[in-house]
Amino acid sequence: MARYGETLGDCVRAGPFVGMQITDGPDGFGFMKLIGTYEAELHPVIEKLIELARYETVVNVGCAEGFYAVGLALRLPSVRVYAFDILKQARQLCAHNADQNGVGDRVKVGGACKCSDLASLVLPGKSTLIVMDCEGAEKDLLRPDLIPGLLDADILVECHDFLDDSITPEILERFRQSHDMSLIDEQPREFPNLCGMQGLSAIDKAVAIFESRAAPMHWVVLRSRAHAKQSVACSRRALYDVTNSVTHAIP
Ligand SMILES: C[S@@+](CC[C@H](N)C(=O)[O-])C[C@H]1O[C@@H](n2cnc3c(N)ncnc32)[C@H](O)[C@@H]1O
Repeated sequence: MARYGETLGDCVRAGPFVGMQITDGPDGFGFMKLIGTYEAELHPVIEKLIELARYETVVNVGCAEGFYAVGLALRLPSVRVYAFDILKQARQLCAHNADQNGVGDRVKVGGACKCSDLASLVLPGKSTLIVMDCEGAEKDLLRPDLIPGLLDADILVECHDFLDDSITPEILERFRQSHDMSLIDEQPREFPNLCGMQGLSAIDKAVAIFESRAAPMHWVVLRSRAHAKQSVACSRRALYDVTNSVTHAIP
């Protein structure tokens, strides 16, 4: 595997952030991020959010080494990205990866994300994208009663219901009136046909794409109806169609 890691270098080969240079993070998911299988079920939604919306701000909670924070800064050249992680090593890597991709001036990295942080960054009337993967803290942070700007934000959140099975129902209830909602289930992966990787054994390929999750995971996509009205050519069907095979629109 190490030999194949060297072949890849640190350049992402597939997915929405192809071409990004990424130094591996503490979660050890670097190889699958480079080959483009990491959270591959999200690629269509990420592409659609980039294509359809015009965000001023991206907030990434649980940024690890910056895969989403730096990737979105690269794909959305006018946004400012605020990335948070409780781990110092993650914050250092995220800042390093932002610098090595030339977006260090637009990616600000902070520690534990609190409701007060979100309240100061996610403002009513502004178009904000929140990408959140923070090990269950999503239930404490996605509080539109405390953070009114969330009603105008688009949100992609990984829900850790294996830790607390009230997380998804609670979040859906909070945003039912203000957002169009869809749910993305974790999908099986295939090792991609990438140049230089053909010699890997079947077992190495299986290990390389295994995301070692504690339970089958899902994500919720919340698209602000207020924001959708302001965006050109933005429709809820478009968001659903592109992910038709893996998402369920929630009435
Ligand atoms: C599974 S990782 C996220 C990986 C990310 N999806 C990626 O693509 O790289 C979850 C991260 O959330 C961080 N975290 C957990 N609670 C947090 C909080 N309240 N604020 C900021 N980061 C948090 C952890 O330190 C960890 O790095």
